[in-house]
This record gives sequence, C-alpha cells and structure tokens, in this order.
Amino acid sequence: MILTIRPEHPEDIPAIREVIKVAFKAVPHSENNEHLIVDALRDDDALTITRVAEEEDKIVGYIAVSPVTLSNGESGWYGIGPLAVSPTAQSRGLGSKLMQSALLWLRENAKGCVLLGEPEFYSQFGFKVTDGLILHGAPPEYFMALSFNHHYPRADITYHPSFYPSS
Ligand SMILES: CC(C)(COP(=O)(O)OP(=O)(O)OC[C@H]1O[C@@H](n2cnc3c(N)ncnc32)[C@H](O)[C@@H]1OP(=O)(O)O)[C@@H](O)C(=O)NCCC(=O)NCCS
Repeated sequence: MILTIRPEHPEDIPAIREVIKVAFKAVPHSENNEHLIVDALRDDDALTITRVAEEEDKIVGYIAVSPVTLSNGESGWYGIGPLAVSPTAQSRGLGSKLMQSALLWLRENAKGCVLLGEPEFYSQFGFKVTDGLILHGAPPEYFMALSFNHHYPRADITYHPSFYPSS
C-alpha cells in the first residue's frame, strides 16, 4: 500500500473528522470532542500545521499542531494533538510517521512543543516530563515537552481557546 503523509486539504475535512472520532472512541478519559476541537482550531485559523496519512486515496491518520501560550511570555512553543490513526490502520507505524513529519516542521520553526499523552509512546520521539512546564488540570506524568534548543522554560502552558470549549 502506498502511504502519503501531506498537509490537509479542504476536501479532506469530513474524512479527518471521521478518523479522529473513530480513533478516540475507545480511549479512556477522552471526551470524544477532539474532532470538534480541530474544527474550532481550523475556524480560528489556528492550525499551524496539519498532516494526514493517506493510503489508497483514504485518510487513515491525522495530526494537528497549534500554538500554545507560556505564562513567562516566551514564544515559539506549540502543542501537538490530536494525533489519531484509524483503529484498522494502527500498529503499522503511521502514528510515528505523522509525528515525525510534524517534528520535521517544528524543528525548523519552533523552540519546542508539548503534548498530553502516554510517555511510553512519546518518549521514543524525545518527549519528556519536565518539572518546569505545567498544564493546569492535567496529570503531570502525562504532560510532556520536547525542546529543540535544550532549554526547558518554567511556565504554565495554555493551549489555544479551542481546547477549552466550555470556558
Ligand atoms: C496513538 C496512536 C496515534 C498510535 O498510532 P499507530 O499508527 O498505531 O502508531 P505506531 O504504529 O507508529 O506505533 C504503535 C506502537 O506505539 C505504542 N503505543 C501506541 N499507543 C500507545 C499507548 N496509548 N500507550 C502506550 N504505547 C502506545 C505501542 O508500542 C504500539 O505498538 P503495538 O501496536 O505493537 O502495541 C493510535 O493508537 C491512536 O490513534 N490512538 C487513539 C487516539 C490517541 O490516543 N491519540 C494520542 C493522544 S492525542
């Protein structure tokens, strides 16, 4: 099967929604609103980069990157997520390829990035739990960061407002 990793196109949007929905359906602690967050980010022009994984003209994976705010005023940091691969396409390296493609862009354009996820999966890309970066309301052992200049700021992180739909 030929795999293409590329930025999203407007005509991909319905398939992207479906992939995110189906991927997060069985995830514990998910509020199953990740597709709505992506829609809201897109509506607000806050999707810094996106990548879809396409196999045989079918979208089977997706990753989004959006800006985050640091309480110390430092700029150049981004949040990764959601990352989603259709259950039928999982465990074949697509999630890793989407992440590597996002990181390729981020290494060239960002100071660092953060995400909320399973350390077991994300540590392979260099993400680590740090003392200094805090996401209020999130379990600290799942909030991870990757700096591209070895400097990890001490700051509270706020994602784009699209991640806080009820506030
Ligand atoms: C996480 C996800 C994107 C990985 O996609 P993938 O294409 O299966 O990833 P890869 O094939 O590159 O890597 C798979 C390996 O990563 C590890 N892995 C994947 N998810 C993991 C998790 N939640 N916890 C720990 N390790 C995990 C496992 O070692 C897995 O290997 P295995 O399938 O043989 O057990 C996919 O499982 C998914 O969409 N999950 C639901 C949504 C989600 O939790 N997204 C992440 C939070 S934003």
